[in-house]
Amino acid sequence: AIARVRAEHDVRVWPAPDPPPRPDLLAGAREADGLLCLLTDRIDTELLDASPGLRVVSNMAVGVDNIDLAACAARGIPVGNTPGVLTEATADLAFALLLAAARRLPEGIAAVRDGTWGPWDPAWLLGLELNGAVLGIVGKGRIGQAVARRAQAFGMEVIHTGRSDGGLPLTELLRRADVVSIHCPLTEQTRGLISTEAFALMKPSAILVNTARGPIVDQDALGEALRSGQIAAAALDVTDPEPLPPSDPLLGAPNLIVLPHLGSATRATRAKMAGLAADNLLAGLAGTPLPHAVSA
Ligand code: GLV
Repeated sequence: AIARVRAEHDVRVWPAPDPPPRPDLLAGAREADGLLCLLTDRIDTELLDASPGLRVVSNMAVGVDNIDLAACAARGIPVGNTPGVLTEATADLAFALLLAAARRLPEGIAAVRDGTWGPWDPAWLLGLELNGAVLGIVGKGRIGQAVARRAQAFGMEVIHTGRSDGGLPLTELLRRADVVSIHCPLTEQTRGLISTEAFALMKPSAILVNTARGPIVDQDALGEALRSGQIAAAALDVTDPEPLPPSDPLLGAPNLIVLPHLGSATRATRAKMAGLAADNLLAGLAGTPLPHAVSA
């Protein structure tokens, strides 16, 4: 994808695997006409002020919570993202987490390795049977719907939020669901949505899965809910912050699986995301509408 951009433009690529420190990002963007950024780059007024020639921001992600959309719109700078191509990969990962938590895979794997695998025991490591269980989808967008399709194939009953299309209020969904899976974007409305009050409504046998954005879940409240047995387990692909330091108190909570933001991490999906990000960037630089523009 970078080669396609390079064929038409002078391209500067941040060389390190770590995101550019803020001063480097600001300095690097100063003369940029276009920016292809990752979800780790904060694109805000400060950066837009520092790069007066900017004509397009292309995020190699579907989520755009790292970008101040209103500030870009106010300057007439289009913002592109990569929807659609990562739906199935992310839904697969959500389901992998759901199954791993429901059937207690980490405990089973650990028992084999640490020698606590004893004789076959009818009451050992019992988990949640998906057939007949209720899956609550918070945010029935593309990824939420793809997770729902998988759940239906496993015999789950699927409920969702969003009253405009026959969904339930969040409080009702939290009361009824055996598994709650988060698929809404991070906005000011969804920040901290899964809070102490939310955990209080959930079943003690419930499992929380989050493959959306870390700050949608109040992590202190989650740690407390797991420690007190208010919910049974949680499986996260996203945290706040990322990376989550190994010393973070959340990691001391029981029945918790944490993955390092791998939702879209398949070879096929990442290649398609890179392609879409390049398409958006090239369109913006050419002054034509972005194939996948995000509105503020
Ligand atoms: C990944 O988290 C994305 O938003 O694409």
